[in-house]
Amino acid sequence: MSSIDEIKSRIDIVELVSEAGVKLRKSGRSYTGFCPFHDNKRTPAFVVWPELGTWKCYGACNEGGDIFKFVMKKEGLDFKEALRKLAERAGVTLQELKREAPEVKEAYERLRALLEDALIYYRNQLFNNKEVLTYLREKRGLTDATIETFGLGYAPRGYDNLLPYFAPKGYSQQDLIDVGLLSVRDSNESQSPTANRQLRTYDKFRHRIMIPIRDEQGRMAGFGGRIVDPDDVPKFMNSPDTAIFNKGRILYGLDRARKPIRAADQAVIVEGYLDVIALHQAGYENVVSPMGTALTEDQLRLLKRFTRRIVLALDPDTAGQKAILRGLEAARSAMDREGELSFDPRGLLRNEARLQADLRVAVLPDNLDPDEVVARDRDEWKRIVENAKPIVTHVMETLAAGKDLSDAKVKNEIAAQVIPLIEDLPTPIERDTYRQALARMLRVDESALSAPAAPVPTFRRKPRAPAQSRETSAPQTVAAVNPIFKMEAYCLGVLLRNPALLYRLDRKLQEFGLTPLAAEDFEYTAHQLTFNIIRLAVEQDEKDHQNYVETHLPETLSEISKEALAQVEKASPTDDKLLEELLNRVVDLRRAGAMANINQLRFLQEEEQLQGGANIKTYQRQAIQFTKLLGALDRAKKNLSLKR
Ligand code: UTP
Ligand code: MN
Repeated sequence: MSSIDEIKSRIDIVELVSEAGVKLRKSGRSYTGFCPFHDNKRTPAFVVWPELGTWKCYGACNEGGDIFKFVMKKEGLDFKEALRKLAERAGVTLQELKREAPEVKEAYERLRALLEDALIYYRNQLFNNKEVLTYLREKRGLTDATIETFGLGYAPRGYDNLLPYFAPKGYSQQDLIDVGLLSVRDSNESQSPTANRQLRTYDKFRHRIMIPIRDEQGRMAGFGGRIVDPDDVPKFMNSPDTAIFNKGRILYGLDRARKPIRAADQAVIVEGYLDVIALHQAGYENVVSPMGTALTEDQLRLLKRFTRRIVLALDPDTAGQKAILRGLEAARSAMDREGELSFDPRGLLRNEARLQADLRVAVLPDNLDPDEVVARDRDEWKRIVENAKPIVTHVMETLAAGKDLSDAKVKNEIAAQVIPLIEDLPTPIERDTYRQALARMLRVDESALSAPAAPVPTFRRKPRAPAQSRETSAPQTVAAVNPIFKMEAYCLGVLLRNPALLYRLDRKLQEFGLTPLAAEDFEYTAHQLTFNIIRLAVEQDEKDHQNYVETHLPETLSEISKEALAQVEKASPTDDKLLEELLNRVVDLRRAGAMANINQLRFLQEEEQLQGGANIKTYQRQAIQFTKLLGALDRAKKNLSLKR
C-alpha cells in the first residue's frame, strides 16, 4: 500500500470535514451538509461518502474529490502540502522524509557492524559450551547447520565480559550501550563530578542462548536471549528498543522467510523464536514471529509487502487465543490498545479490510508449540496450516464448541457475539456468506439473524456498537479497498505503460458519443494529478512519452504510479487487448459514477421536497444529464460486449 493509500485509510473523511466546520448529517450511506466552498446556506448539497473517502457538492460548485482535494481547497494548499499535513494527522511517515541522512546512515552501519561482531563472539562462546550446545542439539533437535544459519550463540555468565572484548576492537562503552548489549547501572550514589567519566555498566545478557534478530533486509538489529537455567527469569530477554531495533516494526525470521512467503503467497505467524527456527529447519520457511508483543499494524503492513494471505498459528492456550474470545465480551478497552491488533477479532477484521489482507486462524492441537508439532509429525504442520479458517468462522466454531446448540439461549448468545463481527465485514457478499453460515450452524432461519432490535439499513458500513461496549475510535474508512480506486489505478497503469493509448482511447470514446478521458473521471486527487502528467506527456513532442512522465512525475506520486503499474502487471501484452480493457474500465468507471450521482440526486431531491423545494430544479437538471450519460454508457457497453 502506498503512503497515500495508507493516509486515506487512516483518516475518517467525516471527521475531517466536520472538523473543518461542516455540520454533517447521516443519511443512508452518505452524510450531507452545507457546502463550505460556496455560500448557499439554505440547501445541504454537500455530500460525503465515508466508505469511499470522497465528497461532492451538488450545488453551485459542482465539485468533488477525496480528502486531499478537500484540504487543498479548504486551506489553499498544493497537493504536496496537503499530503504532508494529512500524513502527520494520520501518523504516516512519508517516504521522502524516511530516507536516512548520510551521517545517520553511517552511524547505523557502525551499530550494525558491532552487532555482527557480537554475533561472532556469542557463537564462539556457544561452541565452547558443551552443555548449551547439547541442549540445542538434543533437547531442541536443531542441526548444526540450523544453528549456523540462524547464528545462534551463547552469552556467558558474568557481568563484565563484553567491554574488555570490544574495547580493543575500537568500540566504546557508549557504542555497546547504544546497541543494547550493556545496561547502565542505576546508582543511588550521589553524582560526584568525576562519576560521569565512566558510566557503571554491566552485560545485559548473561548465561543465555542468544538469538540474533535481523530486519527484513537481513541487517542486524538486536538479540533475543533465552534462559539456559529454567529457574532464571525472565524466560526471554530482548534487546531494548534502539535506533536500529524496534520490536513493533520487525518480524523475527522475515529476512529468511520473505522469499518463501512470496513463493507460497502465504505467511504464517507463530509466537516464538524457537518455533520459527524449528519450522524453517523442517522445511516450512514462510514462517515469522513477533517478539513477545501483540502483532502491530506496522508488522502486518510489512508482511503485506510479500503476501496478503496471512495465517495466525495460535496456541489454543495463549493469551492471543483467549483474547479472541475475550474480545467479544466487555473487556474491549484492554484490547483496543493503540496500534496493536491484540488478536481481537474485530480489530483484526477491520485491519483485514483496510489492509486488504486475508487473515486466517490455525489452531494448534493438544497444547503443543509449533516446534513440538513438527517434531512429532512433520506433515501435520501442513495440515494445520491448510485448515486455517477465516476469523469469523474460527470465532463461530470456538464459541459453539461443546455447547448445546439446540438451546435457544445458547443460540442467542452466540448470535449476539458473532453478528457484530459479520457486520464489520467489508463486502455484502462476505456478510451474506457468513450470515448464512451462522444460520446453518445455529439451525435458525437467516432472517432471524439479520433483524436485531431495529430494522437493518440496506447498507451498513459502521456497525452499531453492541449494547455493552461503546463505539471505538478505530478507523472505519476502507477507502483503499474500494473498487473505484482499483479501477482508477488500473486505467492509470495501462496509460503509464503505454501513454500513446490515450489517443486511441479518446477516439473510441468519441465514437460512442462520449467525452475524452479527463482528470475529473478520477475521484482521487493523486490519480487526477498523475493523469494530468500523462495527458501532458502525449501532448508534447520533445521527449518520448514515458521519459516525459518519468521526469515530470513528482516524488509524491511515485508510489501511486508504481501501484498503478502493478495493477497491470498481469494484463495482456498486446496494445489492442490493452485498449479494449482500458475502454471497458473507463466505461465502467463512468457508469459507477453516474449511477452513484443519480441515486444521490434522487435522495437530495426527496430531502429538498421536505424543505420547500427551492433547489429541486438544479437537482433535476443534473439527474437528467447523468441519466443521459448512463444511456450512452450502456450503449457503449453493449457495443463493447458484442465485439468480444
Ligand atoms: P514462549 O514462552 O512460548 O517460548 O514464548 P518459546 O518460544 O516457545 O520457547 P521454548 O520453546 O519454551 O524454548 C513465546 C515468545 O514470546 C516471547 C519470545 O519471543 C518467545 O519466543 N517472550 C516470551 C518474551 O519476549 N519474553 C518472555 O519472557 C517470554
Ligand atoms: Mn516452545
